Amino acid sequence: MGLLSSSYSSSFTTFALFLFLVQLSCFFNNLNAKHSVANSHNRRGHHHHHNTQNPPLNPRLDRAFLALQAWKSVIYSDPKNFTANWVGPRVCNYTGVYCAPSQDDPKVTVVAGIDLNHGDIAGFLPAELGLLSDLALLHLNSNRFCGILPRTLSNLSLLHELDLSNNRFVGPFPTVVLSLPSLRYLDIRFNEFEGSLPVDLFNKTFDAIFLNNNRLSSSIPRSFGRISASVLVFANNKFGGCLPESIVNLAETLEELVMINTSLQGCLPQQVGFLYKLRVFDVSFNKIVGPIPYSLAGLSHLEQLNLAHNMMTGIVPMGVCELPNLANFTFSYNFFCEEEGICRNLTSKRTVFDDRRNCLPEKPLQRSKKECNAVNQNPVDCIKLCCTTEGGFGNNATSSSSMPTMPISAPPFIAPSHP
Ligand SMILES: *[C@@H]1O[C@H](CO)[C@@H](O)[C@H](O)[C@H]1NC(C)=O
Ligand SMILES: *[C@@H]1O[C@H](CO)[C@@H](O)[C@H](O)[C@H]1NC(C)=O
Ligand SMILES: *[C@@H]1O[C@H](CO)[C@@H](O)[C@H](O)[C@H]1NC(C)=O
Ligand SMILES: *[C@@H]1O[C@H](CO)[C@@H](O)[C@H](O)[C@H]1NC(C)=O
Ligand SMILES: *[C@@H]1O[C@H](CO)[C@@H](O)[C@H](O)[C@H]1NC(C)=O
Ligand SMILES: *[C@@H]1O[C@H](CO)[C@@H](O)[C@H](O)[C@H]1NC(C)=O
Ligand SMILES: *[C@@H]1O[C@H](CO)[C@@H](O)[C@H](O)[C@H]1NC(C)=O
Ligand SMILES: *[C@@H]1O[C@H](CO)[C@@H](O)[C@H](O)[C@H]1NC(C)=O
Repeated sequence: MGLLSSSYSSSFTTFALFLFLVQLSCFFNNLNAKHSVANSHNRRGHHHHHNTQNPPLNPRLDRAFLALQAWKSVIYSDPKNFTANWVGPRVCNYTGVYCAPSQDDPKVTVVAGIDLNHGDIAGFLPAELGLLSDLALLHLNSNRFCGILPRTLSNLSLLHELDLSNNRFVGPFPTVVLSLPSLRYLDIRFNEFEGSLPVDLFNKTFDAIFLNNNRLSSSIPRSFGRISASVLVFANNKFGGCLPESIVNLAETLEELVMINTSLQGCLPQQVGFLYKLRVFDVSFNKIVGPIPYSLAGLSHLEQLNLAHNMMTGIVPMGVCELPNLANFTFSYNFFCEEEGICRNLTSKRTVFDDRRNCLPEKPLQRSKKECNAVNQNPVDCIKLCCTTEGGFGNNATSSSSMPTMPISAPPFIAPSHP
């Protein structure tokens, strides 16, 4: 399915996990020797030089043991037996639990990662998880964890990656994640989080945030652009409002912005064109009106541009069609009435395109004259719409006027392009 689906997550997080494990490789080299050590555990005298290889228990591993046992006691279904060997104090040997030398004292082994991806485990997250204060990675993608996140997670001050995607978490946006100073990768997609996004979220620095397919609603604050991230995927939520001009503040970081089906309104701000690192820009299935900002012609890294299923009008500008890296330009289901220059024959440039259901006089599969006239008689004044002056979501957005309703089919999903 692509960027929105869990396959992207697994490859992204597997990649991250891979990097992480490379860092831990010293430790894992030691693990290879473990088998010979395990049997010799009770014969210390004979194998003294091996004892450092079998991580000695220490207070941090003891706390991890308490945490993991508390967790196991609130796991009600584990069809793949991931936690079957979560027995006894040797937590480093548990399935899905990864130990490493601690950051502050390399001689001390700690639980640094937990990866239960695709475990299909049902249960919840107990408060005792706060005891795992050495955790850098927590990957719980594709399980049946439910309920809310415990406040005690704020104790995980080293947590770098949190992947809770495709579970059954509910309640308001889990603000506890905002108290994690090291968090750079946040993936909560495909859960049932609801309500508004906390303002503080937009004040943080991340590498990637995936919020898609939740029940998040209300507006994204004007300070949108204070967030720092290279990948933002907000699709399939009900945010509403306009894409704020403050998005320009993301210029130094943003590479992928995916806001499919997020009830966006108003015109696209010119500022999108200053996001010069952008490779993926997808605002399909919204209620965006007005023209394609000519500034998009400045996005020289842009590979995927999807404007489909909006109510955009005007010219498809040559500068955009000429973008050197544009591989796929989808602008079907809008009201564009003219294509400039090379836009008329994107095939000749080997750009995949979809221009169906517009008002393009010389192209097949266009809208009827009646539909097109209804829109052309109501020209859009972007200045009067919500975000051109204030740059904020949830301002005075126009409700859909006399526009014909769009046929909504299955949303197109873009192929992931990995960092
Ligand atoms: C770790 O688990 C393996 C099997 O999963 C077992 O053979 C080995 O004895 C265990 N080692 C320790 C130290 O418990
Ligand atoms: C899990 O363990 C149970 C009982 O030990 C066993 O019946 C079942 O086949 C195991 N499932 C898997 C997927 O290994
Ligand atoms: C937080 O972590 C510390 C160790 O770093 C531990 O002593 C404390 O009990 C933890 N707090 C909670 C609420 O788990
Ligand atoms: C956001 O960051 C700015 C500057 O870094 C700070 O002044 C402001 O108080 C922060 N706002 C919140 C809600 O944390
Ligand atoms: C848009 O998102 C809503 C949930 O916010 C969902 O019910 C609907 O099916 C989505 N529409 C498309 C076209 O994906
Ligand atoms: C588009 O360009 C290709 C090759 O450059 C050419 O073969 C084709 O006839 C052109 N199509 C149209 C509709 O002009
Ligand atoms: C929205 O605009 C209408 C008229 O254009 C005005 O009456 C109303 O007060 C505005 N609402 C807000 C929240 O600014
Ligand atoms: C082009 O992008 C659209 C929209 O994201 C997608 O549906 C389509 O499959 C893509 N085409 C190719 C060939 O990648």
